[in-house]
Amino acid sequence: MNVVRVGFIGAGSMANAVHYPSIVELKEAQLVAICDLDEERLNSTAEKYGVPKEQRYTDYRQMLEREDLDAIYVIMPPMGLKPIVLDCLRFGKHVFIEKPIGCTSEDAWAMAEEAERRKVKTCVGFNRRYAPVYQYAKAKVFEFDIPSLAFAEFHKDMLGQGPYYGMSILRTDIIHVVDLLRDLLGDPIEVYAHVWSKYERWENSHNQFAALIRFEGKAVGILAASRTSGSRYERFEIHGKGISAYIRAPEQAEIHRQGADIEIVTDEQLVKTTDRRITYGYFEESRHFINCILQDELPITNFTDAAKTMDLVERIEKFALP
Ligand SMILES: NC(=O)c1ccc[n+]([C@@H]2O[C@H](COP(=O)([O-])OP(=O)(O)OC[C@H]3O[C@@H](n4cnc5c(N)ncnc54)[C@H](O)[C@@H]3O)[C@@H](O)[C@H]2O)c1
Repeated sequence: MNVVRVGFIGAGSMANAVHYPSIVELKEAQLVAICDLDEERLNSTAEKYGVPKEQRYTDYRQMLEREDLDAIYVIMPPMGLKPIVLDCLRFGKHVFIEKPIGCTSEDAWAMAEEAERRKVKTCVGFNRRYAPVYQYAKAKVFEFDIPSLAFAEFHKDMLGQGPYYGMSILRTDIIHVVDLLRDLLGDPIEVYAHVWSKYERWENSHNQFAALIRFEGKAVGILAASRTSGSRYERFEIHGKGISAYIRAPEQAEIHRQGADIEIVTDEQLVKTTDRRITYGYFEESRHFINCILQDELPITNFTDAAKTMDLVERIEKFALP
């Protein structure tokens, strides 16, 4: 195989904003078929990317049965995800999904275990891990040793809005930066957290999150996330051996080395664009997934890895105040 034949389930906003454009841009991938329950979205997306009428579906099982596909992007909200993903895996397809990997840790492990049984490649869209500025800063710190301390901050101005999908915002969104702490520091050993609401109460979710996590290898991760904040703001610190990185994702990172001038690196310097599809890692996550299929390697944000992030999210949520 030198080209991966891709089918999509979902022609919604995220898929159209980043995943279709990335697959179409990759010469190692070919967009073959699309499925969406909503015929208007199905047809407008198919027209945009030149998918013929006979390769458009409203029933994903028909698409799986009729089309010769290697990989499926299932880009839809977490609530209905598990049965569809399990069907794709049972058809032996490689599968890419958005975060979160289902609604619960139980969902996540059901999908991860099925993927392992089927020996297929899987990937969850934890795009921050693939953001060029983050990858650059992480590599600089890891040149010296593993970090001792990492800080992840992810705030949003959601006052009066409530959580996405009526679900815990920690699971659907803040999970991105919980995942980064795992990426930087490894397996969590001990968790202490405070999860609460202030200013207003949402159904099924708190809006304030603080956690202190002890990881293997004498490392600590700190999480801070307020969802009644003044603006969207995302920032990471990584402290290593004689080196620290201060990352304002995805725009820039400052690298501080003991005894040296501060190095400032921007997304534009690294990838010659400020297009967020590139700078926030969305293009790179698809490139990585497709290349892993072709090279028979495990994607870094595979289902098993993502299930571990969901486990950590659930450990943090155990501290939620009533
Ligand atoms: N990584 C990120 O930065 C980021 C940002 C935003 C959203 N997301 C994630 O992206 C995912 C999708 O969000 P969205 O806003 O694009 O959703 P959306 O509602 O816009 O799109 C989902 C589409 O799936 C279709 N669909 C639902 N069930 C289907 C079925 N059984 N068969 C075929 N089609 C079906 C719907 O008709 C819809 O068109 C969510 O999990 C969300 O958490 C990720």
